Amino acid sequence: MPSRSLSAFAFMALMLAGPSSAWATEPRQFDYMLNCQGCHLPDGSGNLERQVPPFPGQLGKFLLVPGGREYLVQVPGSALSGLSDEALAGVLNWMLESFSAAELPADFKPYTGAELHAWRQQVPTDVERVRSELLQRIAQKDKQ
Ligand code: HEC
Repeated sequence: MPSRSLSAFAFMALMLAGPSSAWATEPRQFDYMLNCQGCHLPDGSGNLERQVPPFPGQLGKFLLVPGGREYLVQVPGSALSGLSDEALAGVLNWMLESFSAAELPADFKPYTGAELHAWRQQVPTDVERVRSELLQRIAQKDKQ
């Protein structure tokens, strides 16, 4: 399987880069590096010219409004990734904890693979519209 040989290759590259970088990388971050950071960048800052939104200061806020928890799964980069349900749950939890811990709701429950399995089968046709509706809900909540 090509993706398997790619991860084996990337793992070797990390090992060769020096033990400290390999030991510091946990599996969830490793999945992020291989599947997401090409667009979202290592620090989650994204690329506004390519319409890739920044995660820091923002990602956790989606969990504060109805529809937001589903959205983070249904956005094409998540839903259509080659990751298993379990691995996708792990990457999303890692991203939320690493890039947006301060915005997480106090009662944050980590995603599970079983929870997101059905959501990722329904990718919204108009992601931009869903996103801007959620941002409006977040802005209204911030005002309260
Ligand atoms: C080809 C570039 C690309 C890759 C690869 C990618 N994304 Fe994205 N991602 C985007 C873009 C562009 C958006 C903005 C929404 C949209 O248009 O899809 C986005 C939005 C998101 C959002 C919602 C953030 C927000 O503020 O709306 C999440 C969550 C997300 N991506 C997760 C992931 C995960 C997890 C992976 C890896 C498994 C991944 N993405 C891989 C381009 C990418």
